[in-house]
Amino acid sequence: MSKQFDVVVIGGGPGGYIAAIRAAQLGFNVACIDEWKNAAGGPAPGGTCTNVGCIPSKALLQSSEHFEHATHHFADHGISTGKVEMDVAKMIARKDGVVKQNNDGILYLFKKNKVSFFHGRGSFVAAKDGAYEIKVAGAAEEVIVGMQVIVATGSNARALPGAEFDEVNVLSNDGALRVGAVPKKLGVIGSGVIGLEMGSVWRRLGAEVTILEALPTFLGAADEGVAKEALKAFTKQGLKIELGVKISEVKNGKKGVTVSYANAKGEAQELAVDKLIVSIGRVPNTTGLNTEAVGLQLDERGAIVVDDECRTNLPGVWAVGDVVRGPMLAHKAEEEGVAVAERIAGQHGHVNFATVPWVIYTSPEIAWVGRTEQQLKAEGVAYKAGQFPFLANGRARALGDTTGFVKIIADAATDEILGVHIIGPMASELIAEAVMAMEFKASSEDIARICHAHPSLSESTKEAALAVDKRTLNF
Ligand code: FAD
Ligand code: NAI
Repeated sequence: MSKQFDVVVIGGGPGGYIAAIRAAQLGFNVACIDEWKNAAGGPAPGGTCTNVGCIPSKALLQSSEHFEHATHHFADHGISTGKVEMDVAKMIARKDGVVKQNNDGILYLFKKNKVSFFHGRGSFVAAKDGAYEIKVAGAAEEVIVGMQVIVATGSNARALPGAEFDEVNVLSNDGALRVGAVPKKLGVIGSGVIGLEMGSVWRRLGAEVTILEALPTFLGAADEGVAKEALKAFTKQGLKIELGVKISEVKNGKKGVTVSYANAKGEAQELAVDKLIVSIGRVPNTTGLNTEAVGLQLDERGAIVVDDECRTNLPGVWAVGDVVRGPMLAHKAEEEGVAVAERIAGQHGHVNFATVPWVIYTSPEIAWVGRTEQQLKAEGVAYKAGQFPFLANGRARALGDTTGFVKIIADAATDEILGVHIIGPMASELIAEAVMAMEFKASSEDIARICHAHPSLSESTKEAALAVDKRTLNF
């Protein structure tokens, strides 16, 4: 007799494991199936985010930033260090340790919430009597039954045609996070989030980094002012970013990788590098799910088709996170997972896509929520914008990190905040206040009237709000 569950979650990334925990909190008997293996072949729940995404990339960004501070900035504080050396193997081992803490934490949370964890690949077998039979192929094989199924199988790196990932020379995010020694020359294809974060890590550690981007504009999704400031800062740091290129060929040889491409002027160019990171977006992962067995509908990109509330075309089957439409972000996946569990319980789970924040963990950090100036112009919305530079913020001066600014955009008539765009120190943390303000439909005046601690970076947010009304106090 197969084990029966109220809810079966396929995939244990941030979408899946959070959905499983929330469903268990709501009183359901829940199973979560995840196939990710650690180096020893054991379970490693947490998905892309924990194993080869958010968490390990931030660990390496932290290590490499310490190195950069020690080599370039400690002296400003009167600290002399002698020669600073980088032990890449130790940095990678530390990162692996951080990942393991998170894997173990999720296994503990499953136990605490009485979620039954299955280590293996889950696939649909059949729909039967209003429920779904799911095969789990792990060390052993078994079939379990779920009255409701949440698919949260995530995404994989998109390969460039003709440049398959070997994870030795041509690297996806996976290989990029475990390079054994600093490459002398590193090429990156795609100046998106991964390209900038991973390019920064290896540049800080001494690699000569060239990023090749197909689009003529840099960071097109960000506010134009922020993108301009970011390009200036990254170029000054030594990242070489070429826009408007067209890659024609990638040759992966014994000595490294050669990329042939046309530059923005159409001139033929060659880039020879030791390692090449290809970060040109990600594709939804439905491989091995056997969607055909139950007729689960996919779109032309292979993403599972869902409505605004994550319902698929099948009754009782839901899908969340990177495997469906929308931004591929861990917190978006988590919010959808919670909302689906609550909907299954008859509650009114809700995700506000208009207030999903974006963060790029480079230095300076970049973070935004809501609409950009260029979007508002295109939509014909009348707005007013206020900006405050970190250069005029006392805390930023004390930190020695004064690049960037906070920009607040508000509706010209109602003063409701429509977007907040930050480039500078701790933008990833500062953006939370803006998200909260937008959730509460705050006006720029609301932020301007709130008492912010002094000296703090967050005073720049208050000053940007004052700037909307042209009355900054410190600039
Ligand atoms: P995933 O995390 O991909 O998890 C899916 C899980 O399902 C995996 O464990 C997979 O093995 C498993 N699975 C797949 N198929 C099956 C099957 N048939 N049976 C059993 N298990 C299966 N986002 C942020 O918000 N902030 C960041 O800082 C950030 N940094 C990133 C850095 C990098 C380098 C990368 C690559 C991504 C980053 N992201 C970040 C994006 C983030 O990782 C994803 O948006 C997030 O992981 C999506 O969660 P998910 O649960 O939908 O899928
Ligand atoms: P991306 O979508 O951020 O950027 C891909 C870039 O590659 C784009 O600028 C695109 O124009 C370019 N590109 C596409 N095809 C190309 C080609 N043939 N030649 C040259 N350039 C080409 O994708 P990326 O960086 O792979 O990251 C995937 C996703 O992972 C992100 O969109 C994001 O959702 C998530 N992520 C989030 C992070 C965060 O929140 N801090 C960090 C890293 C990843």
